[in-house]
Amino acid sequence: MAAVNGAVENGQPDRKVPLPRPLRNLEVKYTKIFINNEWHESTSGKKFPTYNPSTLEKICDIEEGDKPDVDNAVEAAKAAFQRGSPWRQMDALSRGRLLHKLADLLERDRVILATLETMDTGKPFLQAYFIDLEGCIKTLRYYAGWADKIQGRTIPVDENFVCFTRHEPMGVCGAITPWNFPLLMLVWKMAPALCCGNTLVIKPAEQTPLTSLYIGSLIKEVGFPPGVVNIVPGYGPTAGAAISTHHSIDKIAFTGSTKVGKLIKEAASKSNLKRVTLELGGKNPCIVCADADLDLAVECAHQGVFFNQGQCCTAASRVFVEEQIYPEFVKRSVEFAKKRLVGDPFDARTEQGPQIDQNQFDKILELIESGKKEGAKLECGGLAIEDRGLFIKPTVFSEVTDNMRIAKEEIFGPVQPIMKFKSIEEVIKRANSTEYGLTAAVFTKNLDRALTLASALQSGTVWINCYNALYAQAPFGGFKMSGNGRELGEYALAEYTEVKTVTIKLSQKSS
Ligand code: NAI
Ligand code: MG
Repeated sequence: MAAVNGAVENGQPDRKVPLPRPLRNLEVKYTKIFINNEWHESTSGKKFPTYNPSTLEKICDIEEGDKPDVDNAVEAAKAAFQRGSPWRQMDALSRGRLLHKLADLLERDRVILATLETMDTGKPFLQAYFIDLEGCIKTLRYYAGWADKIQGRTIPVDENFVCFTRHEPMGVCGAITPWNFPLLMLVWKMAPALCCGNTLVIKPAEQTPLTSLYIGSLIKEVGFPPGVVNIVPGYGPTAGAAISTHHSIDKIAFTGSTKVGKLIKEAASKSNLKRVTLELGGKNPCIVCADADLDLAVECAHQGVFFNQGQCCTAASRVFVEEQIYPEFVKRSVEFAKKRLVGDPFDARTEQGPQIDQNQFDKILELIESGKKEGAKLECGGLAIEDRGLFIKPTVFSEVTDNMRIAKEEIFGPVQPIMKFKSIEEVIKRANSTEYGLTAAVFTKNLDRALTLASALQSGTVWINCYNALYAQAPFGGFKMSGNGRELGEYALAEYTEVKTVTIKLSQKSS
């Protein structure tokens, strides 16, 4: 099975190469604010801790950026974007070479980065190494190739006019990233932004700053001019809000909760109408028809919801199964969930680590309790693992109905709600009756059904007989409240460029 960009297709990463050993006693080198290719202490003198969610131990303290630090980062990014600056004068091919060089360094330091990601997030090292890092490297290489292929058009207008468009960089781009795929979500924003010639101010999630800061050291080593990439670790309402309200930031890209996505759009409209792309939550339907390959469907639905401890915007968190196969599907899904190995993320056999923090852990357990109270049938799990901090048992609920909270709210944890359906018309209506619209999956061998569902489902992505098949080349984003705009693929270039129309009047008729 193929390793794909940022997720596992049909369950498992591609393991053509053996998994190297993680670096158990890795020292964290980069804990400061990165501006102008230099490391700075916070203006306030404050620091904040980052924890290892697997052991609950503090890893280290990080300089805590706030508005004055964001202001400094924006000044640096603005200066780097000035007309005549080294970055603006660099030819497009050389921009692409820098991105390729950055990908080379990610390959060189892949074990370090995967180790840091596992320490900071608790995700299994095997997945950090084969999935997150693979996705980062491929995305950088993909956009490295685009750098010198960003072209406008010539447009026929009146006869003695010449009209053409230029696709120009927007300027200073803000990026606010989440903790579930810290490095990958950063690269999804950084690679297209840089390939189009923008400069960046990045705020990583406060739970997981380590890999983003490490990237700062690589940016410097690669030779990006100072100020092109700046990284300000800190909290959302302070450093994050300073980015979304800033008058000199021209665009912002965000991945995270719907609640904060709305705040960011509001801040953008109240400040300078900066362009906004949002990648928010999902309550993604996974529809299993009676004629599906049942082994495939059960495994994909299982991986689809449990991958990354369930902390995925793409999680298959509403499984609709056609009634004839419902009992068998539930039975096999429970077998999978019971077998899922939960434990030390540095153990190569581990499939599931801890949740990211106490807040998320409490939210998930509260939703599990709501499922029990509202009458869903708990098939397995349903509890934390005793004395193990933030670990939760893989949980399966059957007999779930659409009005239950576990069928409506984003759980972001290892919980699989399974519903029953009778007809295609019915399941289309039910799948679409949500404010979200990020992804959907369909399992069937019937081409007609597959394509009917693919066009009827209101979501930015539809997977047919696969799950989490994400590629740098293919756009990703949401319908409805799952977001605005697209990341990845050629489509993302439009999110990082402004179109300029140039019209020239000729003194003579051109033909
Ligand atoms: P969040 O939306 O608060 O965090 C994401 C990023 O936004 C972090 O960098 C955070 O510091 C920043 N942020 C927070 N408040 C901000 C503000 N006022 N202005 C600017 N930036 C701000 O998400 P949180 O609280 O960590 O998780 C809550 C829920 O959000 C999860 O349970 C899950 O349902 C959803 N979520 C979805 C993600 C996705 O991949 N779409 C990723 C993370 C969370
Ligand atoms: Mg951490």
